[in-house]
Amino acid sequence: MPSTKISVSVLNADLSRLADAAAFVEQSGADLLHFDVMDGCFVDNISFGLPVLESLRKHIALPVDTHLMIRDPLHYTERFAKAGSDLLSFHIESDSDTADTVREIHRCGMRAGIALSPDTPTETVFPYLHLLDPDDFVLLMTVVPGRGGQAFLPYVLPKIRELRTRIEAECLPLHIEVDGGINAETGAQCREAGADMLVSGSYLFRAAEPAAAVQGLR
Ligand code: DX5
Ligand code: ZN
Repeated sequence: MPSTKISVSVLNADLSRLADAAAFVEQSGADLLHFDVMDGCFVDNISFGLPVLESLRKHIALPVDTHLMIRDPLHYTERFAKAGSDLLSFHIESDSDTADTVREIHRCGMRAGIALSPDTPTETVFPYLHLLDPDDFVLLMTVVPGRGGQAFLPYVLPKIRELRTRIEAECLPLHIEVDGGINAETGAQCREAGADMLVSGSYLFRAAEPAAAVQGLR
């Protein structure tokens, strides 16, 4: 199993001080900054989007891991690349064609992630795994997308195992990212199940010693 990467979600940071949040992520020793985009259509919440990412990009040297919770990700893919995303995940439940969106993400020079909400069966993504490049990923949501600070859903753990088994059986060099309710305990459960990219937001922003908390997750 490759080393675990930690991606810090800034959704629950003080959004009036996003540059401070970026500095916090950088100083925590994390690997990626996780940027959660919600359009008020795909999920019942609106977060932030392209102009905010463009501003934030100037304040962070780490790669940006953008998670699109929007209805038509294909339509916005190129603009998220130009705004500074290095990794781009989108939902298989969105209205965009999955294969076309993966191809467009690659054309724009980003690493692609296909995201699945907790109730979407794991096998839904199987037909698309061969479209992913080495180092691309599948994002298994461990909360219902829409807001930070929710409790981890343990019924996603068997999905992680199922996906890891499939990826290994097909010798695919892909990562499994988990997102939602990740703390020291649930992070360890996900790692044990086969995840190697952990998104964590409120747990790290509340931690007394963020660098130690990141190291603990890893
Ligand atoms: C939920 C977002 C997550 C979330 C993570 O819709 O995709 O990235 O904000 O935050 P915590 O770690 O607080 O669950
Ligand atoms: Zn997210």
